[in-house]
Amino acid sequence: MRPKVSVIGAGNVGATLTQRLAERDIADLVLVDIVEGLAEGKALDLLEAGPIIGHNSRVVGGTDYALTAGSQVVVITSGLARKPGMSRDDLVRTNAGIVGEVTRAVVAGSPDAVLIMVTNPLDAMVHQALRVSGLPRERVVGMAGVLDTARFRCFVAQELEVAAENVQAHVLGGHGDTMVPLIGMTTVAGVPISRLLGRDRVEAIVARTRDGGAEIVRYLKTGSAFYAPSAATAQMVEAILLDSHVILPCAVELRGEYGLNGVVMGVPAQLHAGGLERVVEMELAPDERLALERSAEAVRQLLTVLG
Ligand code: APR
Repeated sequence: MRPKVSVIGAGNVGATLTQRLAERDIADLVLVDIVEGLAEGKALDLLEAGPIIGHNSRVVGGTDYALTAGSQVVVITSGLARKPGMSRDDLVRTNAGIVGEVTRAVVAGSPDAVLIMVTNPLDAMVHQALRVSGLPRERVVGMAGVLDTARFRCFVAQELEVAAENVQAHVLGGHGDTMVPLIGMTTVAGVPISRLLGRDRVEAIVARTRDGGAEIVRYLKTGSAFYAPSAATAQMVEAILLDSHVILPCAVELRGEYGLNGVVMGVPAQLHAGGLERVVEMELAPDERLALERSAEAVRQLLTVLG
C-alpha cells in the first residue's frame, strides 16, 4: 500500500502541493478544506490528470477529516491571508485558532503522522501545533527555510549568471524579516560568494530575499506566493516519505541547540521517516549569533499574543 499524505487547505499552496506530489507518484493524497466542494473538485481534477501525466496516485478530497485517517504525513496550509486593516496580532490569533482546530482533527485520526506546517506566521504556527497536539518536536516541522534559501539562491544565480543549483546557501532564523543568511557559508560550486560579489551586492540580495514574500504579494495583489512554497513543501514531504536523511533548513523547536531553548527557529535539520532526526549545528560568526538571538526574540514576542 502506498503511504497516505493529507494536505489541509485546498487553496493555492495546498492544491499546487497536491499536484506536485501526485505527479511524483510516491503517495496517495487527501485534500481537505472547510469550503464545501473545493477539495472534492480539485482532488477529482488532479486524479483525472493521472492518465495524461502518467501517475497512479489516488487523490480524494472533502471536508471530512475521516478521509485523512492513517496519514503518514499531514501538511497544514489552512489559514487566512492578512487583509488590509488586519494587524499582525489579529492574524496570529485567527490563524492559531484555525491551526489549533485542524491539528486536533488530524492528530485524532493520524496519531503517528509527521506534521508539516505551512500557514503563516510560520514559527508561531509550529508552536501552536506542538502545544495543541502534545506531539514530540520531531514530528512537527515548519516549511520556511527551504523557500527562503531557494529565493536567495535564485537571486545569487541571476546576479552571477550561473545555474541556481550550483549556489549553496544556508538561512537560519525566523521566516521573513528576521531570517539570518550565513554569508560566510554561501558558495557557488564551492567558491565563497565573498570572492564573487561585493558586500553591497550581497546585502542587496539578502534584503530582496527577506522581502521575497512581500515582493510577490505586490504583484499578485490578492494572493501570496504558492509555486515556490509548494515546491519547498514537496521537497520536505519527499524527504520524510523516502526516509532520505537529507539536511534541509526547517523550522523546529530548539532544545539547547544554538544556545536557544523552547523557541521555534529555522535551522538545518536532517529529516527521516520519523520527521526531525537531528538539528545540525553550524559554527556562527558573532554577528550571526546576535542576529539569531534577535530573531528568536521576535518569535517570542509574536507568541505573547497567544499567551
Ligand atoms: N479548515 C480547513 N481549511 C481552511 C480552514 C479550516 N478551518 N480555514 C481556512 N481554510 C482554507 C481556505 O478555505 C482556503 O482554501 O485554507 C485555504 C487557504 O488557501 P489560500 O487562501 O489560497 O492561501 P494559500 O496561498 O494557499 O496560503 C496558505 O500558506 O504560505 C502560507 O501565508 C500563507 O498562511 C498562508 C498559507
